[in-house]
Amino acid sequence: MRVTSLGHAGLRVETSGARLLCDPWLSPEGAFQASWFQYPDNAHLMSDEIRAPDAVVLTQGERDRVDPWLLAQLATSAPAIACTTSAPSVRRLLKESADRRIVAATPWQRVEVAPGTTLFFVPEDSPLSRRAAVVLRDGGETLVDLGGTRLAPIQLEQIRDAAGGRIDLLCMQGATMSWYPSCYEYSDERRREAARQKRLARFAYIVRALRILKPTHVMPFGGHPCFLDPELFHHNDGLEPGGFPDQKQYIAWLADRGISNAVAMMPGDSWDITRRRRETDATWDAVSLSDRRRYLTEYAERRRPHVDAVLARFPEPRESLWDSFRDYFEHLLLLSPYFNERIGIRIGFHITGDGGGDWSVDFRPESRGVRPTLDDCGYEYRVAARWAQPLFSRALGWDDFLYSLRLTARRSADKCNDHVRLLRFADEKLLRAVEKHEATARADDTIAVHSGGKACRVQRFCPHAGSDLLDSGEVLPSGALRCLAHRYEYSLSDGRCLNGNAGTLRVAPAGAESATPTPIMAMPEWPS
Ligand code: FES
Repeated sequence: MRVTSLGHAGLRVETSGARLLCDPWLSPEGAFQASWFQYPDNAHLMSDEIRAPDAVVLTQGERDRVDPWLLAQLATSAPAIACTTSAPSVRRLLKESADRRIVAATPWQRVEVAPGTTLFFVPEDSPLSRRAAVVLRDGGETLVDLGGTRLAPIQLEQIRDAAGGRIDLLCMQGATMSWYPSCYEYSDERRREAARQKRLARFAYIVRALRILKPTHVMPFGGHPCFLDPELFHHNDGLEPGGFPDQKQYIAWLADRGISNAVAMMPGDSWDITRRRRETDATWDAVSLSDRRRYLTEYAERRRPHVDAVLARFPEPRESLWDSFRDYFEHLLLLSPYFNERIGIRIGFHITGDGGGDWSVDFRPESRGVRPTLDDCGYEYRVAARWAQPLFSRALGWDDFLYSLRLTARRSADKCNDHVRLLRFADEKLLRAVEKHEATARADDTIAVHSGGKACRVQRFCPHAGSDLLDSGEVLPSGALRCLAHRYEYSLSDGRCLNGNAGTLRVAPAGAESATPTPIMAMPEWPS
């Protein structure tokens, strides 16, 4: 098997009988309304070879993985293969390109893509997740693409067993790019610390996954992206100290922990799994990335017409958006009493530009409703009217908007709040499924935790969104347990959520059986 990096999380895989593209992203318009761009520039990879795969494997339903621009240029005979859990969002994006058959595989279902070549998906265990890992087998060789997933340890063990204990190449994302904390009105110090916590949580997970999967080689990939719109260019500063670690930082961090089997791949580089040999793309001989700012400034010049073209598709509205704001949020308030209760605050929107205003939506039972004021808001967003209009008319999804970083957010108490999940997954059926999942998720499963010389038992799955605390929990010196998935903290005395309204962790005194605590992983240190 031979794997070629296409930049970001894109791969071209040649097996004994098939040529596959996996999550290819090459659009010159980047993604998320010309916010994210591939870093480094991978435009030179467009070729007839790329345009003629036998199939396209799509592991996530997000725009940096499903690229309608590229898909429109591929042979329509090549099916798109996705996991049933991510197929609805993949299908939505595929509609923007040419007609293409979708093969939706259930989790763990083996799909034969060519004689001798099979694949199966392993999705994250949450009704809201659109992410899946893919395991590709050819002959006796196995490639595991974990992407940015956060699979439970038991799923990783099952993958290792399904691969007969031998994983030749593991592709795994280090960057965790999102609007938190990049878009929050924080002091520089607070933002750096929040970014550091996020980075550490991801790297702790990576080390844990590597220990379970024991791959022969690991390929760091999947970002970070860069930002070429002048309005967003400052977000590139966050790349320098490793807020969104790049491959070099990722590999250095692994090396610091004695993990030396990482393979660095530039877009166009190939890794021959059979011969365990890397072939480099000569393009990079003439390119220097050492002066990142200069590289990005020149890259931004090249992409300027594409950024302008995207912005022109989102004109500034002239009419007031109040009616559409009110209708949108009145509908949202009816979707899920469960989420309304968890949110329990007023959320404000300062919509700038013609058509904008200062408006809010109140989730508290005593004052529930949509209001033309920003008073008493626990959270406030600042959004330009050109983006608010398509959001309220549902032409633009919240995920696409939030990932674009074209907003600022402020919160009165520095606490997480669940309204983001409501905005992102505003679908009655889906929200009911989440409620059911969270209410019943393996209710009896508990783990033992030691803190301050005492032991207690807590529920194993986080009351917020069901992350396995065995994998994503850490005990803080203050006597709280933090879930690293969204950083909610719970008191180990009474289970109260200390930094938000994310439900209550069930806590009970430990019985005799918990004399040996279940280990909660320690946070690793980032090299100075
Ligand atoms: S799953 Fe969100 S904080 Fe635990």
